Amino acid sequence: MKLFNVYELFDIELVKAQGSYVWDSKGKRYLDLYGGHAVISIGHTHPHYVAKITEQLNKIAFYSNSVQITIQEELAYKLGELSGYPDYELFLTNSGAESNENALKLASFYNRRKKVIALKGSFHGRTEGAVVITDNPKIVAPINETPNVIFIPFDDVEALEKHLSTGEICAVIAEGIQGVGGVFMPSVEFWQTARQLCDKYDTVLIADEVQSGYGRTGKFFAHQHAGIQADLITTAKGMGNGFPIGGVLISPKFKATYGMLGTTFGGNHLACAAGVAVLDVIKEENLIQRAEKAGNEWIEKLKKIEGVKEVRGKGLMIGVALEMPCKEVRNILVKDYQIFTGSSSDKYTIRLLPALNLAQQEMDFFNEQFTACLEKVLVAVE
Ligand SMILES: Cc1ncc(COP(=O)(O)O)c(C=O)c1O
Repeated sequence: MKLFNVYELFDIELVKAQGSYVWDSKGKRYLDLYGGHAVISIGHTHPHYVAKITEQLNKIAFYSNSVQITIQEELAYKLGELSGYPDYELFLTNSGAESNENALKLASFYNRRKKVIALKGSFHGRTEGAVVITDNPKIVAPINETPNVIFIPFDDVEALEKHLSTGEICAVIAEGIQGVGGVFMPSVEFWQTARQLCDKYDTVLIADEVQSGYGRTGKFFAHQHAGIQADLITTAKGMGNGFPIGGVLISPKFKATYGMLGTTFGGNHLACAAGVAVLDVIKEENLIQRAEKAGNEWIEKLKKIEGVKEVRGKGLMIGVALEMPCKEVRNILVKDYQIFTGSSSDKYTIRLLPALNLAQQEMDFFNEQFTACLEKVLVAVE
């Protein structure tokens, strides 16, 4: 049997990883500034992470949500403390899409409505509910189509008010910072208006922090830069540093009933061990403060590089917009400079989503190599 060919792949096989580096099967070392779609939060094969998962694997790897799994409680407690949402409850899932799927269901169970407001440029995942609130018709199959989603222009508070005032809207969902869309952060005004209007019209406010969460931007969740609380917060990616795990943080205004939500694998012992290890390291190594300081300084340096048009983002969620489409630049960075970066649906923007403990010298190294790479490409274009 062959694999269903849906991914455009680099001709590279990675066989080893440590910190912010990965090695291919030929022994070549690459600097990883992408973390496999923002997943590697505490660095590859972090010793505490490996030890925690190994220890758990030797005890029990999995049992379903039909018995007590106390490591789930440890994870929920530590997440509540570190994220500043100690009074929220946690539902554990396996991915970002599944987290969003469950958030939409919770919202709809809560106010019995169906319509959702999402933003232009959004990405929320590929499953039924998540894909229809994603602004990309190419990945929406006819079976997913629904009249229940309204896309408003990014950051448009007037459009938000116009639609919310009908009193028919179940939920507003926005990414803390749009990632796949090209690293665009909603304004403080947008989040604060959304909070106020959602309260007024009994609409549920969902912050999708699957990519922008877990300390990457200098707050645990990016929407916290606006000083508001969302009703539901969805997470995944950095939560497990590569082990599949996701979650929904749920405001006390939602009341759980047996059978309301469920999953076979979500919250399994091994995934929770990974999740606990990630939170331990984020706390012990002060990675949130580090990401904020180092990332914001890096952003200022990146802005000065010749060929860079604009740098967006916060902390270590960075979008570098070039004056030319970035596909070739990214390919050259991998081939000639051994550096992984990410693309986005804005073809001019490179995404940098490294581990939160990326060292200063690795940022400096990138700046040098990137400058040289852009010079080379600009000369070739002239
Ligand atoms: C903001 C956001 N939400 C949801 C998802 C979907 O996550 P997953 O691929 O784990 O289903 C992604 C994935 O890129 C994302 O960036």
